[in-house]
Amino acid sequence: MKLRRIENLDVRGKYVLLRDDFNVQIVDGQITDSFRIDQSMPTINALRAAGARIAIVAHRGRPKGARNMEYTLQPIADFMKIKLIPDCLDKDFLKDMHDGDVVLLENVRFYEGEEKNDPAFSAELARGFDLFVNDAFAVSHRAHASTVGVAEILPSYAGSLLANEIEHLSNVMENPKRPLLSIVAGSKVSTKIGVLKALAKLSDTLIIGGALGTTFNYATGARVGNSLYEADQKDIALEILDYARQHDCNVLLPLDKGVAKEFARDAVRVNKGFSEIEDDDVIIDAGVQTTARDIDAIKQAKTVIWNGTVGMAEWQPTWSYGSFALANEIAAQTRAGKLESIVGGGDTVAALEACGVKDDITYVSTGGGAFLEFIEGRTLPGVAILEDK
Ligand code: 3PG
Repeated sequence: MKLRRIENLDVRGKYVLLRDDFNVQIVDGQITDSFRIDQSMPTINALRAAGARIAIVAHRGRPKGARNMEYTLQPIADFMKIKLIPDCLDKDFLKDMHDGDVVLLENVRFYEGEEKNDPAFSAELARGFDLFVNDAFAVSHRAHASTVGVAEILPSYAGSLLANEIEHLSNVMENPKRPLLSIVAGSKVSTKIGVLKALAKLSDTLIIGGALGTTFNYATGARVGNSLYEADQKDIALEILDYARQHDCNVLLPLDKGVAKEFARDAVRVNKGFSEIEDDDVIIDAGVQTTARDIDAIKQAKTVIWNGTVGMAEWQPTWSYGSFALANEIAAQTRAGKLESIVGGGDTVAALEACGVKDDITYVSTGGGAFLEFIEGRTLPGVAILEDK
C-alpha cells in the first residue's frame, strides 16, 4: 500500500495536527515504558526541523467520553517537556505558536465524539489546522475522529512511524523467508481467532502457547486442572487445528507446563506433563520440554512472528522462564544473522525489554490490537484513508 508521506512536504509555518499513540503504561504518575513515545520522536523532530507548528492529539486509556483526570496526558507532557493544552478543542494557543513549536492536547477520549467519530466533533478538532499527520499506528484500527474523521477534513499524511510499520509488516506478510514460524500466546482464543487462522494459513509452523495453548490442550482432551482456559472455545480451537492441517501448517501445542497449587507470584513451581496434572493444579508457565522444543523450532526458522507471552512473564524469575527463553533465543538467532524477527504486543515487547534484547529484534511493532488486525489482513481505517491512490 502506497501512503501519502510527509517527506518533501513544505510545512514551514503550517499548523499541523499530529496524531500519536501515547497510550503507555503509567504507574504512580511515572511512565514505565516509553517505547511508543520514543518511536514517535523521529516524526515530531522532522516536523519541528521543517518549521511546522505542531499540536499532538493523543488518548490514554478508556475514559468513555468523560473528563476523568485519572487518564490525563500530563505525565506524558512532563516526560516530553512540552506544554499540555488542557482542552483538545481549545484553539487559543495557536496564535502564540512559532515555527518549530510543539504542544500536546489533553486526552481526546475525554469527548464522546472521539470514539463515535462524530463529524461535528471532527470538524471542531480540525479547526485551525492546515494539515493532519497520523503517526499513531497502534490506534489506527479504530475509526475514531482523531484517526479517520479529521483525515476526511484536512489534507492528511502518514508519519514515518506509521509508514515504517506498514512497510515492515507488509514485507513479512507478503514475502517471508521460509521456514516461517509464528508464535501466538496470551490469554484468550476469542480475541485471536482471526490472527490464528491468518497465521495458520501463512506459516510453516505455528506454536500456540500461554493460556491460549491451555484451551487448545483442553480441546484435544488433555488434563488442565484448575487453570485459566476457555471451555466454550473448544470447537473453535478444534476448527483452527483443522484449518491449519488443511493449509499444511504444523501446529505445536504445549507438551508440559510449569504449574503450582495457587495462581500467585511466589507459588512453588513444579514441572508437569499433562497426564500428571491434578484437579487443583494451576498452569502458570510453559514447561521445560515445551520450551526446549520451541527453541529448536526457532533455530530451524528463517522468520519468526511473535505475539503473546507463554506464561506470567512479569512474575520473574519463577514464571518468566518460558517467555524469557523464547525472547533470548529469538534475539540470539537474529543477532547471528540467521533469523528475521517481528514482535508485537505490549506484554511481549515488555518481555524483550526485561531480557535486555529488544534492540536485537529485526522489527518491534508499537501496535497491540492494530498489529494483530494488520496480520489478520484486516483493513485499518486510520491507514486506509492515507492511501495514495
Ligand atoms: C492500544 O494501546 O493498543 C491502542 O492505544 C488502542 O487502545 P484501545 O484498545 O483502548 O482503543
